[in-house]
Amino acid sequence: MSPSADEAARRAGAILTIDLGAIAANWRGLRDAGRAGGRPVDCAAVLKADAYGTGAAVVGPRLAADGCRQFFVAHIDEAIALRAVVPEHPIYVLNGLLSGSEPDFVEFALTPVLNDLGQVNAWRAAAQRYNRPLDAVIHVDTGMHRLGLGPEEAQALAGDRGRLRGLRLALLMSHLVVSEEPDNPINGEQLMRFRNFVRAMPGAPTSLANSSGIFLGPDYHFDLLRPGAALYGINPLPGKPNPMLTTVTLHARILQVRRIDALQTVGYGAAWRSARPSRVATIALGYADGYFRTLINRTHVHLGGRKVPVIGRISMDLVTIDVTDVPEAESQPGALVEVLGPHLSADDLAEHARTNAYEVMTALGRRYARVYVGQERAP
Ligand SMILES: Cc1ncc(COP(=O)(O)O)c(C=O)c1O
Repeated sequence: MSPSADEAARRAGAILTIDLGAIAANWRGLRDAGRAGGRPVDCAAVLKADAYGTGAAVVGPRLAADGCRQFFVAHIDEAIALRAVVPEHPIYVLNGLLSGSEPDFVEFALTPVLNDLGQVNAWRAAAQRYNRPLDAVIHVDTGMHRLGLGPEEAQALAGDRGRLRGLRLALLMSHLVVSEEPDNPINGEQLMRFRNFVRAMPGAPTSLANSSGIFLGPDYHFDLLRPGAALYGINPLPGKPNPMLTTVTLHARILQVRRIDALQTVGYGAAWRSARPSRVATIALGYADGYFRTLINRTHVHLGGRKVPVIGRISMDLVTIDVTDVPEAESQPGALVEVLGPHLSADDLAEHARTNAYEVMTALGRRYARVYVGQERAP
């Protein structure tokens, strides 16, 4: 920990520890899964939403140092920020080319993911204006019905490659709808549609698999894997043991402990009532930090090797826990409780909050002191 991070963590109400070594190891593991099929499959990193809450400005350069050579974000401003710390490698902007943003893409050497023929035309026109070839990704919609060229547009493009004059096709891509459900026939249908498109547009590198898609097997790997979630430790195989390493641990500090009698309520709305004389500790995080209100009376934290129930409503900045069964010496103001980490994963907390781990990670609070560990690269 650097002296300043150390200082911030010492006075912080809650501390988010991000293990860069674990994120890098997860990336290497996914890259190796791609290579295991015997083809030279490359592995990108999806760093949108601030690298799923872990800090793109730190994670990006770390993964680049470990050999990651292609990066995806959602917004152009995420890409511009990432360009400052990842100067050399392609950065693809998934949300596409918004009208008027061409000069920014060119200035920061960013690559738009072109999601319709209008964007293809605009980017081709930009290549003509700048009088030089510009890199482009073509996103074809194989079933998500969200972004990407629909079937007619895809056919029109394949039938007239002149539409891409002046553009260098960096990638053809599509996105899977239910990759976390290996038995769902939609996966195979999307695979077939993507293969047809790739056949009609020969010569460009191709990409289909997100994190869970990688685990659907080599048929889904194409030339480039595109994981986000699994890099950060989210389980790509729901319902099965998580093959990824935990990357974040969240500790919150006990601010105050009070004794209450039986039949007393705790917190807003009197949503929890003590069945016995109890000790209640108040810890320093809340819904303003991404600790969801739906966690009311539904989850726990860990303290001194014990599960400690979260009780009552989640406040903006405070959460109450029942430390009646924890020795007093271990549950004093200043003590740190584990909110998220090896004992309770983002997937677990998501289940308690009735959401998914993506939302838990991307909601991770901006008020936490952030401490990065595992900075040293494996030899
Ligand atoms: C187009 C695209 N590719 C890849 C990813 C990464 O997906 P995951 O986080 O499931 O690995 C996303 C994330 O939603 C995406 O939108």
